[in-house]
Amino acid sequence: MLRPGPIGVFDSGYGGLTILSEIQALMPGYDYCYLGDNSRAPYGTRSFEVVYEFTRQAVETLFDMGCNLVILACNTASAKALRTIQQNDLPNIDPDKRVLGVIRPTAEIIGKITASRHVGVVGTSGTIQSESYPIEIKKLFPDIVVTGEACPMWVPLVENREYETEGADYFIKKNLDSILSKDPLIDTLILGCTHYPLLLDKIKKYLPEGVSALPQGEYIAHSLQDYLFRHPEMDNVCTKGGTTHYFTTESPDKFSEAATIFLNRDIEVDHITLE
Ligand code: DGL
Repeated sequence: MLRPGPIGVFDSGYGGLTILSEIQALMPGYDYCYLGDNSRAPYGTRSFEVVYEFTRQAVETLFDMGCNLVILACNTASAKALRTIQQNDLPNIDPDKRVLGVIRPTAEIIGKITASRHVGVVGTSGTIQSESYPIEIKKLFPDIVVTGEACPMWVPLVENREYETEGADYFIKKNLDSILSKDPLIDTLILGCTHYPLLLDKIKKYLPEGVSALPQGEYIAHSLQDYLFRHPEMDNVCTKGGTTHYFTTESPDKFSEAATIFLNRDIEVDHITLE
């Protein structure tokens, strides 16, 4: 029997705040617990084993804080750890608790968005190498051609708050030119990393006319709302007080300063250690 608690939202760092803010906007009445593993970010270039281990620690910590439902608001963690956690860990930890990712909900909407049936995905090396997007999209829309591009410099630009500099322009243009030369018929570019909405203005600047960038937040928020509607047993154990608690494995001051940029407001943050 689950005791009611907040919804957990996990990311390797700040990126998941772009997802959390869309969820909060759509469902302001719920309680949330955000956990950013900033001291160990970025996850994007880490091995499968390490991303899985870090993500499992984060999920268990959010469960210990009272969350019954955890959203992996991180594509890299969703690609490399979600399935193993769902299949191997959840039955032992608590078979009634749930962990959801961000890749499947994004794959689900893409069929309605692309007209050319050629889609691009930009993400971390881990997400692109895992092939999670092509696999999930092909299951639902076998006619869609999916091309991926790893952008290893984009997350560090955001985490180090260099995303408005000319250096950012260089790396964004380089990766966009590369993916569009691999498939010039792409009309929709999935931003397959929760950090990338912060780069949206520059991404738009370098995308040719007719190619649109697709941030995930809005779709993840609607997918969560739909999930809770279809699973009233889970909705009933999500507390609804309209609060959010923020935790980071880095310095809380550093986190709250950076988070202000992502959320456009001041927040209070606590430090936490994952093990
Ligand atoms: N924000 C994460 C994602 O969506 C990755 C960031 C990182 O490399 O840690 O993939």
